[in-house]
Parts: sequence; structure tokens; C-alpha cells
Amino acid sequence: MVEIVAKGGTPARVQTEMLAVGVFEGDDLPSELGAAAGVLSEGDFSGKKGETALLYAPDGLAASRLLLVGLGGKSSFGLDDLRRTAATAAKRARSLKLDELAFVLPTSEGSAARVAAAEVAAEGAVLGLYRFDRHKTGEEARELGVFALVHDDEGVEEGAGTGTKIAAGALLARDLANEPSNTATPEYLAERAREISDRHDMGLTILDRAAIEAEGLNGLATVGRSASNEPHFIVLEHRKGGEAAPVVLVGKAVTFDSGGISIKPSAGMENMKYDMSGGAAVLGAMESVGALDLPLNVVALVPATENLPGGDAFKPGDVLELHSGKTVEIVTTDAEGRLILADALSYARRYEPACVIDCATLTGACHVALGDHASGLMGNDDGLMDEVRKAGEAAGERAWPLPLFEEYTEQIKGATADLKNSGGRYGGASTAGAFLKEFADYPWAHLDIAGTAYGKKARNAYTPKGGTGTPARTLVEFLRGRARGAGGER
Ligand code: BES
Ligand code: MN
Ligand code: ZN
Repeated sequence: MVEIVAKGGTPARVQTEMLAVGVFEGDDLPSELGAAAGVLSEGDFSGKKGETALLYAPDGLAASRLLLVGLGGKSSFGLDDLRRTAATAAKRARSLKLDELAFVLPTSEGSAARVAAAEVAAEGAVLGLYRFDRHKTGEEARELGVFALVHDDEGVEEGAGTGTKIAAGALLARDLANEPSNTATPEYLAERAREISDRHDMGLTILDRAAIEAEGLNGLATVGRSASNEPHFIVLEHRKGGEAAPVVLVGKAVTFDSGGISIKPSAGMENMKYDMSGGAAVLGAMESVGALDLPLNVVALVPATENLPGGDAFKPGDVLELHSGKTVEIVTTDAEGRLILADALSYARRYEPACVIDCATLTGACHVALGDHASGLMGNDDGLMDEVRKAGEAAGERAWPLPLFEEYTEQIKGATADLKNSGGRYGGASTAGAFLKEFADYPWAHLDIAGTAYGKKARNAYTPKGGTGTPARTLVEFLRGRARGAGGER
């Protein structure tokens, strides 16, 4: 991973292979970079969002190159634009095969704002440089060595460190999501969880197939029954919050969702390796929580399994009793996520949680409703949902509310059993949410990330194609907010 450093001093005097500077649309260049003003007066560069201009041996600068990156209009500029700007600069330096660059933070008022700017710039650089190439043989792709933040504020160093830790968790989530299902089995996820627990001194419990059955996690046991890669139930506990009630994070980790007996069409089925993205994001968030040493209790629950057809597979029409004691009739074996999540949500009760947030690639219907542009946000507590929505906004991972009206619950009421696992085509994101709601008797929020967890093309400068890591950074932002609220430092 690129090394993020803070470098005090005046931009003009920084000796670097490339100095990168953001320029607002309609602004003149900062006076110390005046030598490069020609590019503006000639109209070759106007400062539009994402626009770049590269100048060599700029007069009056110690740098060998000057990269101007457009920030767009000043009034609409936000921290997410800075993430993108940093990513654009870092990727340009890499494509030029440079070893390092120096990135000048835009001037902002007040130390807190400068720390926040350093944070997102570091995040943007780390996230933007991400590539999933570990299965490519041959020459190793060239990496950028150092991304330096030029600053005049001590807080920048701390911000850069924080941003790096947040981004590193998201990269872990991306790596797990991108890893194909022949490697990223439930056991593989459990091993990665073990590494996180070792690195950060967290509690770890792994339930294998026998333990899952013994615990009565029948949804997970049933979905995983026909798979030769055993299901695992992963419990990771960060205990740095004294006696306070924990925040519980739940992540769906179906390492491959074929649909089971209700098998999916083969076109696009390869994308169902991403059906563990919720679990990946929760593990990624835990990596950041540990690295940041947040003064909180946080428990991660990751039900992990394959969903495959087989002689021993569960079938449409089957009835099972879930962990909570509620019974469910299987309408389709392709609505497997809610079964394993229902078990995890009812398992969470033992922690008497302050709140529970689950994330899951749960419904194609959510993707249809919101496109790639937002995760679906549902829950049983308006305050919590608003907190999650704001955290997502700050993280550049939007989430948008969908309703859980009583009528959706009616749609999933069973004839043979208490519930059925599908409410049909219409309102699919909300009926899935309504199903989960039956198992949450604490403040709870649900993120349906079916449309946001992965993409076949890059989403923005810092989100390349493949697994996005969403909502790992949302969860971390949420938890940092909780840590501040609990009287933790900052
Ligand atoms: N993993 C899928 C949801 C999904 C679909 C995620 C497309 C990402 C992209 C989930 O298990 C599923 O199959 N859901 C069904 C539910 C339906 C059968 C009630 C769906 O969305 O079609
Ligand atoms: Mn499915
Ligand atoms: Zn699924």
C-alpha cells in the first residue's frame, strides 16, 4: 500500500517529482504558483471537476512537475470532491511511473477542517490506487511509493493517519469481495477474521457446521446444508468500551449465491461471488475499528455460507424453525440472505445491544429502486436511521430510506408457517426489510447494498470497478460518531 506522509512547508519549495494542486473553477492560481498562470489565461484549463493539466519544470517551483486538478465551483465543493481529487492526482503519478508526489491541501478555515481534509485526501489516495491483481501472473504492476500531504498544520499528520486506517479497512473489504468463491469460502472469511482479531486483540468465536446446528442457527445451517464448503458463523468482539452496551454489526456473507434449487439464470451468475460483500464490509470496518482503537464495544456477526443446489439442499415448500423460534416457509431458496440474517439478528439479542446495523446484498429490487447510487436504508428507529444516513453521506457512500409499512409485513405473513421468505416481486426491498424486522427487538437499521457493493465499471475516481467496500467506511464513520458521543476523545 502507498505510504501516506505529511510534509510541512510552502508548496513552492517542496522538492518532489510532482506537486499536485487543486484549483477552483474561476479562481486564479495561488500566487506562489503564478508561473503556471499561462495555462489558465490560454483557456487550456478552467478548473472543472476532475479536469487536469500537467506542466513540466514549472518556473519558480522546486517540483519537477505541476499537476493542476480542477475542484469545480467553490460553493458546491465538499469533502467527497477532495477524496476524488486526491485519487486523481495519485493515479496520475502512478501512470507516469513516479515514486512519489506531493499533494497540496486546499486552504480551509480552522484546524478541525484541516484535519478532516487530510483525512479524506489520504482516504482518496489509498482507495483510488486500489487494484485487484493478485491473480494476474507475470510482471508485478508498478506501485506509487509515497503520497505526501503538504500542510502548515500539525493536525494534518493525525488526519492522514486516520484516513489511512479507514481506507485500509475498506481495501480489506474490497479484497474479500473481489476474491472468487473458490478461494473466498466461509472458512477463508473466518481465517481473515482471525487475523483481524490477532492484529487488534479482539475476541473471536467461530462456529462450524456442528456448532451452528447446536446453537439452533437453523437458517444458516439449512442454507449451508448442501455445500461441501462448511458454513461458518463468525463472531468478532472489540471490547474497548467498558460496560457500555455494544453496537452490533451484522454482514451477510453468502460466498456464492447460485439461488440453490430455485437456481438463478446463468447470465451474470459470476457476480454472485459478491454476495458476501456485507460480511466483507463488516470485517473491513472491524479492521479500521481496531486500528483506530475506538473506545467502544463493537460486535461483528458474520453468517457465512454458500447457497448451492444438491441432493441434500433445502427446497421450496420446506418449513424451518429459525433461531428465534419463528417458523418460515420457503417460497424460493434464492431468498436465502434473510434466513441467515434472521438467525444473526436473533443471536444478537444476547448482547443487549445499543443498536444493530446489518448490511447485505439482499435484493435485486433494491438495485432496481435506487440504481447504483445509494444503498437502501430501512429500520425500526428514525434516529438511528438518520445517524446511518448521515454517516453514509460523510463517507461518500449514500444510503436512502425505503419504507417498512405494515402492509409489507402482511405480504410476508405465511399460511403454513409464521412467515414466508418471499413477498413476491413488488416492493422486494421493503418486504425483505420487513422480514428482518421480525427478528430485531432493539434499535435496528438495515442497509441493502445489492446495487452499491460492486460495479462493472469505476464509480468515481476513488472507486474502481469490482467490489467497492461499501459500507465499511459508513460503519466506521457511524462508530466514530458514537465514540464522540460516548465522551471518547475528539
Ligand atoms: N443475493 C441476491 C440479491 C442480489 C441480486 C444481490 C442481484 C446483488 C445483485 C439474493 O439472495 C436474492 O437472490 N434475492 C432475490 C429475492 C427474491 C427471490 C425474493 C432477488 O432479489 O431476486
Ligand atoms: Mn439469493
Ligand atoms: Zn443472496
